[in-house]
Amino acid sequence: MAISHMSVDINTRLAALPAFPTLSGPRVRLRGPRPEDADDVFALFSDAAVMRYWSSAPMQALEQAQGKIEEMLDAFDRREMLNWLIADPRDGRVIGSCTLFRFDARHRRAEIGYALRSELWGRGLASEAVALALDWGFRDLALHRIEADIDPRNEASRNLLGRLGFRPEGVLRERFFVGDEPTDSELHGLLVQDWRDRPR
Ligand SMILES: CC(C)(COP(=O)(O)OP(=O)(O)OC[C@H]1O[C@@H](n2cnc3c(N)ncnc32)[C@H](O)[C@@H]1OP(=O)(O)O)[C@@H](O)C(=O)NCCC(=O)NCCS
Repeated sequence: MAISHMSVDINTRLAALPAFPTLSGPRVRLRGPRPEDADDVFALFSDAAVMRYWSSAPMQALEQAQGKIEEMLDAFDRREMLNWLIADPRDGRVIGSCTLFRFDARHRRAEIGYALRSELWGRGLASEAVALALDWGFRDLALHRIEADIDPRNEASRNLLGRLGFRPEGVLRERFFVGDEPTDSELHGLLVQDWRDRPR
């Protein structure tokens, strides 16, 4: 009993990670952030198209990207958040971000978030990256459920989630401020059995 409970303890599994796991697909690689990624992270999060439905404003200065990388590394040290950067395996350049966060060990649940450089949208790269993170979360962390919440106007994000098997589970009214605007939040959920049974 104690052993089987231990075997799925998410905090134990997170604590046992020696470093950011690197996850490789055919066209993307997820890896931990490094200080020298600041220019690429700034290019990503200063793009108004990327930040349209984000809960913070586009970055305006490189120092904000440097600070964000420090926060990503600190949050990993505390094992509170796994904020991978999505890199192009051909040259290692950062093209996006993919995060598992809000781990709830008791309920074996986490949330996922993602963003891709806007000039690369529409090629399936974000889907590939998010699929790598989901697969790792279900297999290696033994998560039972992964959630995403999106702005209901964010069609690209809704399509991505639907393609990966998430189901829409309801709308929470005016849950976020995007800029000064109170904004609804549409919750999507994916269970481990949905992921195992997904069409491939
Ligand atoms: C959400 C976001 C990551 C989606 O990026 P994307 O490139 O459109 O998503 P995908 O990687 O899933 O690509 C899907 C598109 O590529 C096409 N595609 C081409 N080749 C593909 C392949 N091999 N596999 C899957 N899709 C492929 C799909 O048909 C799809 O096109 P469609 O949107 O016309 O249906 C991107 O819009 C983004 O960064 N937005 C800003 C940040 C954001 O809002 N994040 C979400 C917050 S919750």
